[in-house]
Amino acid sequence: METLYFNAVKQPEAGTKLGGGVIRSGGLVAFPTETVYGLGANGLDGEAVNKIFEAKGRPNDNPLILHIAKKSDLKDLWKSVPERARLLMDEFWPGPLTMVYLKSSRVPEEVTGGLDTVAVRMPDNRTALALIRAAGVPIAAPSANLSGKPSPTTADHVKADMNGRIDVIIDGGPCNIGVESTVVSLMGGTVTILRPGGITREMLEAVIGPVNLSPAVLAPLKQGEAAASPGMKYKHYAPDAQVIVGTGSLPDMAAKLIAEYERREAEGLTCIIFATEETRCFYRGKRYVIIGERKNPLTLCESLFAQFRAQECKADVILCEALPETDMGLAYMNRLLRSAGFKTI
Ligand code: TXA
Ligand code: MG
Repeated sequence: METLYFNAVKQPEAGTKLGGGVIRSGGLVAFPTETVYGLGANGLDGEAVNKIFEAKGRPNDNPLILHIAKKSDLKDLWKSVPERARLLMDEFWPGPLTMVYLKSSRVPEEVTGGLDTVAVRMPDNRTALALIRAAGVPIAAPSANLSGKPSPTTADHVKADMNGRIDVIIDGGPCNIGVESTVVSLMGGTVTILRPGGITREMLEAVIGPVNLSPAVLAPLKQGEAAASPGMKYKHYAPDAQVIVGTGSLPDMAAKLIAEYERREAEGLTCIIFATEETRCFYRGKRYVIIGERKNPLTLCESLFAQFRAQECKADVILCEALPETDMGLAYMNRLLRSAGFKTI
């Protein structure tokens, strides 16, 4: 299949118009959002949705998010809209918040992997919203990477994984959040974070009071434990290298990373340290790249997946720094620990 490519900056209308038609007629379109690039299909057409799983090599019991362009479209996709959903969408939509609740009969089981709930979000990206409007249907979209790879934050990443496997790529420039949306479940009368992201626990709690955090956010599932979010069972975000996370207070953590670096290099492996503005001084004489600022974890989220894919970061071992698990640090640690298969030192 030949993949058509559109630049949304140079041709703002062309890609979304053609892409909308492609989606309506059952094809696949990759598009930018504020979080990561999505791989979209008609969310009301089970056959079209199946093509997403095929193109990504994704297990089809891992359910998808439906993307809408108007808050009022939510009521057609859910059985009912609970009050806490209204409060959250008034505050955070359009934006990186996905809400899971009981699905209506309009939603095909291919979207939900057979679950009786469906995840919905309204992205905060002009191109994404224009594409959904042009399609005239909710767009089912996971991140536009091959299953198990880091999520794409530029159209080049999408091309590297998906060229020849999908109909259209719309390039809207780099994504500004860089990690996927926060996923919350509204089941059971409460709000539970299944995956942390751009809307932090603190931001949610300021609007609706205490929210729960699924234990799978920062720890591997125990054997036999059911996943609240099916995505948690699968290996995720993995670059080709082995990722190791250093923990502890700053000088200690840096010392551990340097010791590990020297040990691995002595074994003949190539290493790189993902350093920060605040810690670069510790790594003099070692191979490192600065990926952001510890005091602003969003900068680290923004570049983590892109650095995993960057040519200049190719190595056998990538050594990374843990962050406090507050605000955007929670989303960062969730992605980092999964990339590392939870290997910490
Ligand atoms: O920012 C994002 O959310 C991006 C952009 C493209 O919107 N999308 C994205 O989709 O990250 P994906 O498929 O890579 O991740 C969706 C996550 C998975 O962990 C999945 O298991 C969970 O949401 N999920 C979807 N539907 C669910 C449901 N009904 N119940 C529980 N978890 C669900
Ligand atoms: Mg994904």
